[in-house]
Amino acid sequence: MALAYRQFGEAEADLLVDFLTRQSWPYHVFDSLSEELVRTNLAEGYYGSESTRTFWITDGKERVGLIRLEDLEGSTPMFDLRLAAEHCGRGIGGQSLGWLTRYLFTEFDEISRVEGTTRQDNTAMRRTFRSHGYVKEAHYRNAWPSSTGAVYDAIGYGILRRDWLSGSRTPVRWDDEPTVENC
Ligand SMILES: CC(C)(COP(=O)(O)OP(=O)(O)OC[C@H]1O[C@@H](n2cnc3c(N)ncnc32)[C@H](O)[C@@H]1OP(=O)(O)O)[C@@H](O)C(=O)NCCC(=O)NCCS
Repeated sequence: MALAYRQFGEAEADLLVDFLTRQSWPYHVFDSLSEELVRTNLAEGYYGSESTRTFWITDGKERVGLIRLEDLEGSTPMFDLRLAAEHCGRGIGGQSLGWLTRYLFTEFDEISRVEGTTRQDNTAMRRTFRSHGYVKEAHYRNAWPSSTGAVYDAIGYGILRRDWLSGSRTPVRWDDEPTVENC
């Protein structure tokens, strides 16, 4: 594999439409995207603006995936990572998460943490988070609707800049419920 990451340009709109509409995305809230929606999003700056950047993941000449970074003007960006179905399960997701995390922390000084949320049953994404230094920070019950009508839990992960720099994982303090005694 010769993975590379290249910023999406407006001239590639048709390629983006093809990539996003030619397959379904079963773990996303909308499991299929229409050409109309993608073109509307393009026109509205969803894939490129002051606060958003989009990158192709390429393997040689082939576009194998897409990374969309958002909330770049604040301290905590989020992202969407999608691989074409035929390229899932090859370790590309992990390498791409590592790349985007490094990109965000090195490109933007003010970013102190990166967040990502996924559906509870998205085992591949959850394992990818865990193996790349992200810590589970939230478990939102019944927070992830799906196109089938089923509602799933949503799981939030995050990585701190200082943990990324040191290679450590600051644990979440789950036992911090206030008691009458410490009021
Ligand atoms: C989620 C995604 C980015 C993961 O990337 P990937 O390259 O397919 O994942 P990897 O091959 O690196 O596998 C990551 C881990 O998940 C496991 N895994 C992969 N596919 C799996 C599956 N279908 N079921 C269970 N485990 C799976 C791997 O064994 C690996 O485990 P390990 O860390 O213990 O070795 C990719 O599958 C994808 O783009 N899926 C479709 C879009 C999507 O769901 N995006 C995330 C939305 S929040």
